[in-house]
Amino acid sequence: MSIAICPGSFDPITLGHLNIIRRTSRIFDEVIVLVMVNSNKSTPMFSIDERLSMVQRAVERYPNVTVNHVDGLLAEYAKKLPNAVLVKGLRAASDFDYEFQMNLINKKINPELETMFLTSSEKYTFLSSSVVREMARYGGDLTGLVPSELIDEIEEKAKAWREHNG
Ligand code: PNS
Repeated sequence: MSIAICPGSFDPITLGHLNIIRRTSRIFDEVIVLVMVNSNKSTPMFSIDERLSMVQRAVERYPNVTVNHVDGLLAEYAKKLPNAVLVKGLRAASDFDYEFQMNLINKKINPELETMFLTSSEKYTFLSSSVVREMARYGGDLTGLVPSELIDEIEEKAKAWREHNG
């Protein structure tokens, strides 16, 4: 059975992420969306539990997709799933440098682990979780950026952030 791992911080999940997950689910028998900590990113907007719940709701329409969280190294986690392949989305050349480096580090930890890249759909090339956070915090319209069922929750969180930060 072929298994893909789609890792990310998903703070929050965007339609760009969901597009990659959906396309991955058509290629692999099973997809594990892995919510992880990116220690290079400052204080997240959403807790791990909130991110897990949002990702879960966003992917529940895909029967071969499950959601998990692990706090640790991605390549170590993948050792428990020897057949699994990492699948990541690439939006632009700027993503490539970072992902190439990540791939080399992951290979050093787990030489058996392969990474495959799907190019982002053109309509999501501009989209990232940081764009969504910024839009939400300043009251922008999130339609077409995140799954529609998550908009209320993201707006609530942004409202709380505005009240706290003036
Ligand atoms: O959505 P992101 O923030 O680009 O995802 C990056 C993520 C979470 C996949 C990456 O930071 C990661 O793999 N974190 C887990 C720790 C790890 O294995 N780091 C790589 C070796 S330093």
